[in-house]
Amino acid sequence: MLYKTIARGRYDTAMPAWSVEDGGPLNQAQIESVIALIQHGDWATTRLVVADLGFAPRVPASVVVPLETLKQRQTTMAAVAHVPSSRQSGRIFCRDSTSY
Ligand code: HEM
Repeated sequence: MLYKTIARGRYDTAMPAWSVEDGGPLNQAQIESVIALIQHGDWATTRLVVADLGFAPRVPASVVVPLETLKQRQTTMAAVAHVPSSRQSGRIFCRDSTSY
C-alpha cells in the first residue's frame, strides 16, 4: 500500500508519482529505501536533528480550533475532553496524534 501510494502518487491530489515507471525520479530500490525510512527510521532523533538545524521548533505544533468545529468532528485527541465548555475556543497541543 505504501509502495503503491509513493510509486503512483495520489490521483487528483498534490501527491506526485515517484516511480520511474510513472514518470518520477525513483527506481524500485529507492522507493523501498524510502519505505524503510518511514517505517523504521528513528523519528524521535530526527525531530531533534531538524530542530537543531533550525528548521522547526522543539515544541510540538499547536493550533486553535473553534469549539464548534471540535463538536462537529469525531476526534481521537484526548485533549478535547479537557477544553472547558465555557470557552469559545480550545488550544490543542498534539504530538503524534490522529484526528478523523
Ligand atoms: C519522496 C517523497 C514523498 C513520499 C515518500 C510521500 C509519501 C506519501 C504517502 C505515504 C502518502 C499517503 C499518506 C496517507 O494516506 O496517510 C502521501 C500523501 C500525500 N502526499 Fe506525499 N509523499 C512524498 C512527497 C510529496 C510531495 C512533494 C507532495 C506535494 C508537493 C506530496 C503531497 C501529498 C498529498 C497532498 C498527500 C495526501 C493525498 C490525499 O489526500 O490522499 N507528497 N504521501
